[in-house]
Amino acid sequence: MAWSYGYFTDLNYSHGYYSEMNPAMLRLACLGQAIESQLCDEPTYLELGFGQGVSINIHAAGSAGSYWGTDFNPAQTVEARKLAAASGADLHLFDDSFEELASRKDLPDFDVIALHGVWSWISERNRKIITDIIRRKLRPGGIAYISYNCLPGWAPVIPIRELMSLYQDCGEGKNRGPSGMIEGALQFVGDVAKAGSIYFQENPIAGHHLKHLTKQGPNYLAHEYLNADWHLGHFSDMVRSLEDTKLSFVGSASLLGGIDALRLSEDGRKLLSQIGHPVMRETVRDYLLNRRFRSDIFIKGPRKLTDSEHRDAWHAQAFVLVKPSADIPKKIPCGPGRSGTAS
Ligand SMILES: C[S@@+](CC[C@H](N)C(=O)[O-])C[C@H]1O[C@@H](n2cnc3c(N)ncnc32)[C@H](O)[C@@H]1O
Repeated sequence: MAWSYGYFTDLNYSHGYYSEMNPAMLRLACLGQAIESQLCDEPTYLELGFGQGVSINIHAAGSAGSYWGTDFNPAQTVEARKLAAASGADLHLFDDSFEELASRKDLPDFDVIALHGVWSWISERNRKIITDIIRRKLRPGGIAYISYNCLPGWAPVIPIRELMSLYQDCGEGKNRGPSGMIEGALQFVGDVAKAGSIYFQENPIAGHHLKHLTKQGPNYLAHEYLNADWHLGHFSDMVRSLEDTKLSFVGSASLLGGIDALRLSEDGRKLLSQIGHPVMRETVRDYLLNRRFRSDIFIKGPRKLTDSEHRDAWHAQAFVLVKPSADIPKKIPCGPGRSGTAS
């Protein structure tokens, strides 16, 4: 479809909620990095590519502020607007493409611009449009949340995506409808693996990944694997893409993702402590963790808290237990083979 820029629209995206994008969680992640979040109590918030709109609707219904968003798939915008009508929250949801949104005259300046699961699946031109929106519409001190697939974690399974994409373009899936296409593509990759492929033999992770794919739903798989664009880069590439936006990296939006003591070996921590440049350090951290997905927080003009401000801010932070204390896990999963003990 011409309006979709090669983005897969035959199946709508799955319904997911992503708590890391919640303004309260963004504030907490900044606090964890000793950065003043500068996020007011009633933020103006923009989500780009909201999918079914579950996250933006929950955030608007559960927190104060004004919530704006777009997703060019009209069927998804209809569903998202139904949720908005039910909550009555302050939501402005459009079916504009990023390009159309960029030329709107009715947009306010934003305290937060967030995009989850979008950056890796759109063209370079659309990524440029997004960075332009951030440059012009994120106010000084504002937060950008961007999640994306990254290297090196994806490197060994890139060929699987290529086979699925080839099946879509040149295989027999065309007459099978979108779900049949996915099923056929997975079957095709499986056939290659079973035919004694040395790629699969020498990359056991590829076989594990294929098995994992067969357990996923077609709506997720289509959006992950069958778009015309699939952009994989390192953290350092992301920083380069954001050069004109005046954004600085703050840390991971995933609260445990930024705690090296829980995730890295002693040797890994020692190596990182010797790397002075923040972009190099963060990229090497991805190699140590073999990370394949990142959810990053950037701020336009971050301010580092002093030690005493940081301590006071933690003391002032309120928490609410949302489940009985007996149900709180005593161990925190921290990555392959590692877990931290909560106290
Ligand atoms: C993988 S989905 C993620 C959806 C949602 N953020 C989530 O995580 O549940 C990517 C979304 O971006 C939307 N999208 C892709 N390209 C777009 C564009 N150029 N303009 C507006 N929306 C776009 C798609 O319609 C799709 O819903």
